[in-house]
Amino acid sequence: MTTRSFYSLQDKVAIVTGAARGIGAAIAERLLNAGAQVALADADIEEARRTAAALDVGGQRSLAVAVDVTKRAQTESMVREVVDRFGTIHILVNNAGIAGPNKPLVEVSEEEWDHVSDINLKGVFLCCRAVLPVMLKNRYGRIVNIASIAGKEGNPNLAPYSATKAGVICLTKALAKEVCTQGIYVNSLTPAVIETPILKQLTQQQIDYMTSRIPMGRVGKPSEVAALVHFLASDDCSFTNGACLDISGGRATY
Ligand SMILES: NC(=O)c1ccc[n+]([C@@H]2O[C@H](COP(=O)([O-])OP(=O)(O)OC[C@H]3O[C@@H](n4cnc5c(N)ncnc54)[C@H](O)[C@@H]3O)[C@@H](O)[C@H]2O)c1
Repeated sequence: MTTRSFYSLQDKVAIVTGAARGIGAAIAERLLNAGAQVALADADIEEARRTAAALDVGGQRSLAVAVDVTKRAQTESMVREVVDRFGTIHILVNNAGIAGPNKPLVEVSEEEWDHVSDINLKGVFLCCRAVLPVMLKNRYGRIVNIASIAGKEGNPNLAPYSATKAGVICLTKALAKEVCTQGIYVNSLTPAVIETPILKQLTQQQIDYMTSRIPMGRVGKPSEVAALVHFLASDDCSFTNGACLDISGGRATY
């Protein structure tokens, strides 16, 4: 009988966007611990380098990559850099995102709308677009998109954020149906409030409102999100595709 390490990511190469801190850093840590080689891609390259150095002393299995996910050329050079260093790409975690304006829609400017949309939705498209040729050539891939409970339910005073996250859920479903016969599975997940620096972008009133709606009565931890991403990024995720998995302490029961 052979022994098998469940969820092993040995010899897998992953890109995690927005990995300098928060949920992305926890995902990078989890994937590294499971054996993967991980590119920590972030607009804040200094923080990405610090995080990579802390998670992977010696830097044998990690690479910090500068990328603004709203810029097509930068997403393409991110892919080249990772392939040059690690040879290929098996896993893409689209995690980079911002909360954007925390105010009534009637006060949101066109520029604010475009900014949130460019990072949260177009950024996911551009990263998928840049990585997919490698995965299609390999006939293997796992793509995990970090959406939000806001994309299922809509949070008041966060209309641009909620709309872009709903877009991420549906982009996931559409792409998943396109590529699943070629060994590439695409899923999204929808966290409720998770304790990270993104909360500094919100008013305390907003955080209290969102937390009050979580039946478990607490906010989530980045490591809890990373655990679910780990499954979706692994070979063990073999019959889950186009799904939107909940991680909200029971706020969403569907
Ligand atoms: N924390 C929560 O409560 C929560 C809940 C639901 C969903 N999410 C989602 O989880 C993801 C991570 O959130 P977080 O809480 O860790 O946020 P965070 O602010 O702690 O980290 C976000 C990271 O993304 C990077 N980033 C921002 N814009 C970028 C760009 N244009 N290009 C590349 N990198 C960029 C930042 O530099 C930062 O390192 C986001 O997509 C967010 O919407 C968070």
